[in-house]
Amino acid sequence: MLARPSGRGPGGSHADPLPLLVACGGDGRIDDVLALEGDPTNGEAVYLDTCASCHGDDGSGGSGPDIASESESEDELAEVILFGEEDMPAFDGDLTDQEIADVIAYLVDVLQAG
Ligand code: HEC
Repeated sequence: MLARPSGRGPGGSHADPLPLLVACGGDGRIDDVLALEGDPTNGEAVYLDTCASCHGDDGSGGSGPDIASESESEDELAEVILFGEEDMPAFDGDLTDQEIADVIAYLVDVLQAG
């Protein structure tokens, strides 16, 4: 089932300037992702497709850092995956919110748990 935030029309005439969106819209997008239940099995497929080239098949790192041996909160994971950080690309829009929730579930339940 698709849960849509109520009370907001699609698009609209008020195009916020991008820097304002980035500065003020962050928490809302993180909440959007964290509201979804992640599926670690699908998350593994997303991870191998999208993340493993930089972070390694098992998360132990490559051109990107080791993300298996530290545990970050789901909030922090959602933030870095949505918006990127330094050389880490942003995936908001590139992956669906569900795919991001799935990959977070895979990181927390599988990679960081092992
Ligand atoms: C093009 C290479 C690249 C890809 C693709 C990539 N990352 Fe990253 N990632 C990085 C780099 C580089 C950093 C370190 C960013 C920094 O210096 O702050 C990073 C940082 C992170 C961090 C934070 C680690 C920390 O110690 O703060 C997480 C979590 C993460 N990536 C998860 C992912 C996930 C999940 C995906 C797939 C959806 C992904 N990354 C795809 C390069 C990449």
